[in-house]
Amino acid sequence: MDGGEVGRMAHSSIGVLAFLVALAASAEDGKPSDPAAALAENQECLECHSEAELEIELDSGETKNIFVDAQKLASSVHAKLACSDCHTDLKGKSSKHKATAFPTAREFAVNYSDQCKQCHFANYTKTLDSVHHDLIARGKLDAAVCSDCHGSHEVMSAAEPRSKISRTCAGCHEKVSTVYAASVHGKALLNDESPDVPACTDCHRSHDIADPRAGAWKLKTPQMCGSCHTNEKMMSKYGLSTTVLSTYLADFHGSTALLQQGEKGARPMVALCTDCHGVHDITHVNAPGSKVLQANLVKTCQQCHPDATENFPAAWLSHYEPTWEKASLVYGVKKFYAVFIPFIIGGLVLQICLHLWRVVVNR
Ligand code: HEC
Ligand code: HEC
Ligand code: HEC
Ligand code: HEC
Ligand code: HEC
Ligand code: HEC
Ligand code: HEC
Ligand code: HEC
Ligand code: HEC
Repeated sequence: MDGGEVGRMAHSSIGVLAFLVALAASAEDGKPSDPAAALAENQECLECHSEAELEIELDSGETKNIFVDAQKLASSVHAKLACSDCHTDLKGKSSKHKATAFPTAREFAVNYSDQCKQCHFANYTKTLDSVHHDLIARGKLDAAVCSDCHGSHEVMSAAEPRSKISRTCAGCHEKVSTVYAASVHGKALLNDESPDVPACTDCHRSHDIADPRAGAWKLKTPQMCGSCHTNEKMMSKYGLSTTVLSTYLADFHGSTALLQQGEKGARPMVALCTDCHGVHDITHVNAPGSKVLQANLVKTCQQCHPDATENFPAAWLSHYEPTWEKASLVYGVKKFYAVFIPFIIGGLVLQICLHLWRVVVNR
């Protein structure tokens, strides 16, 4: 073929199409195809795949609808991609292709989710550290993969509106999500779209979800709660104290938990925030069912202090900084020591100085 022929071919519309298809086929992994080439390829695939009733039967006996909604794909974040940017196994095979050999619909979804990593490698790498990935690797295929949380042909921004995040998790974690929905955090997010309260992923993260039963993770939860509950600007909107973390850490429970954080393989033994307030069922502290309401507090302590009586919590400072009005004895003793200790040390230093002086003068 000489130069003139190529020129003529490129000018004919068929030539342009062939050129574009070839370009699509040569798109490198990890880079979206040229938009015009993508459009041309997608139209070819959709000639068959836009038929709504198109179904296949898998080896497992399940039927799988293979209709692709072009409208949804076009309004997704991937509008400009070619089908074969994700379905790389079908690159260049637009006219006739064989079915891929996945025996079940679940294996199909798990395997095709693996294609997302070509372009979203950072997110993919994070998922390798997640409980979900651990489960998949151990053959528990119902744990979440990319397309469960994001969809396949209809991927949109995952965090807008914010409540969408918790609803996504709810699809598989119904029990936890029902409890969460009734909590002080869940209600504010799901009913009022609050920008401040935690969605599931503020505590668990989204791609590198850790095992929440691991001691090391649990021991860090006070700092996790503290990330919001020490935020002056956020908490002032709700009239909530920002000293809950510092008072906790100054207390016996908190200082022990802090010490344990450095230990390898440590299991929490003392009360963490969640032992007193709950986890997915956290309420306003003065709500009728609250675990920290005066009437229920002894029962909360009795989880670990079985001999605790009615007076037991009264002897404890809760989140209060000791003041003259509240815990006057503790306040008084603290103030006494604040004066007494410098006085003793000062006296000691003075005595040594006087002693030295005498030695020098009497020599
Ligand atoms: C001539 C019609 C036709 C065209 C064009 C076509 N397909 Fe298909 N496709 C089918 C049929 C029929 C099946 C079911 C195959 C089977 O069960 O043997 C299928 C199955 C599939 C499947 C899922 C089933 C599986 O097991 O793999 C995917 C994914 C797919 N096609 C993607 C594409 C892509 C991407 C393109 C364009 C590059 C494309 N198809 C072009 C007809 C077509
Ligand atoms: C952003 C990546 C991406 C693009 C672009 C994409 N697909 Fe898919 N597709 C997937 C994933 C992931 C699955 C598996 C979804 C599942 O089963 O949960 C899938 C599944 C399918 C299936 C099986 C039926 C189904 O919906 O599960 C067909 C058929 C298919 N795709 C065809 C196409 C065609 C045709 C195009 C282009 C018009 C296309 N895909 C574009 C990622 C993509
Ligand atoms: C060929 C490359 C490619 C593949 C494969 C791909 N994506 Fe994307 N993805 C993109 C591009 C490009 C964007 C747009 C980025 C932007 O707008 O900043 C995007 C955007 C996204 C976004 C929105 C990001 C945001 O900022 O809100 C999500 C979520 C996403 N992709 C998930 C997926 C999932 C899940 C898969 C697999 C089913 C997948 N992607 C496969 C290229 C790809
Ligand atoms: C358990 C649910 C879940 C799984 C599984 C999941 N994601 Fe996400 N993803 C989210 C949520 C929620 C967000 C938005 C909030 C955030 O960024 O944490 C998000 C955000 C994103 C974004 C846009 C923001 C960013 O970080 O760039 C991309 C791209 C993305 N995910 C890709 C992927 C890919 C690729 C996979 C598979 C390897 C995957 N996700 C698996 C839930 C999930
Ligand atoms: C496709 C379903 C699916 C989706 C969506 C999903 N998960 Fe999971 N997740 C599972 C399965 C299955 C397990 C294994 C434990 C079980 O059966 O409950 C699991 C385990 C977990 C665990 C470990 C708990 C344990 O009992 O071992 C946490 C934490 C978790 N998921 C959080 C989330 C969060 C947060 C989201 C949303 C961002 C989410 N999951 C979305 C299916 C899903
Ligand atoms: C305020 C922080 C926080 C939020 C918000 C939160 N979790 Fe948790 N979650 C935790 C903590 C802490 C644990 C560990 C509980 C324990 O075992 O002591 C946990 C445990 C879990 C577990 C495993 C144990 C169980 O109870 O089954 C799953 C699954 C889970 N969370 C899913 C979710 C989902 C889904 C959401 C959103 C609907 C969510 N979480 C919201 C903090 C949170
Ligand atoms: C040993 C039990 C216990 C532990 C541990 C604990 N709390 Fe509390 N918390 C309480 C009690 C009791 C109250 C109610 C105090 C009152 O009514 O004056 C309370 C009140 C609160 C309030 C409401 C404050 C206000 O301004 O009304 C918040 C928020 C809170 N705690 C968060 C936390 C956080 C975060 C942690 C961990 C860093 C934590 N708590 C640890 C028992 C506990
Ligand atoms: C993403 C930020 C955020 C995180 C993380 C968070 N909270 Fe909250 N929390 C809030 C906000 C905001 C409110 C006020 C909600 C309202 O009143 O509508 C609140 C309310 C509360 C209340 C009710 C106080 C009252 O009496 O009104 C308690 C108790 C509480 N949180 C405890 C916790 C604990 C324990 C954790 C950790 C397991 C935690 N929170 C993690 C933001 C957060
Ligand atoms: C999750 C378990 C747990 C919960 C719940 C709990 N504690 Fe503790 N607490 C401990 C452990 C463990 C110690 C250290 C061992 C010990 O001395 O008994 C401790 C020590 C203490 C101490 C130090 C003095 C002492 O007795 O050794 C006080 C005071 C205390 N707790 C008060 C409370 C109060 C009040 C409550 C209820 C509001 C409560 N605790 C709830 C586990 C818990």
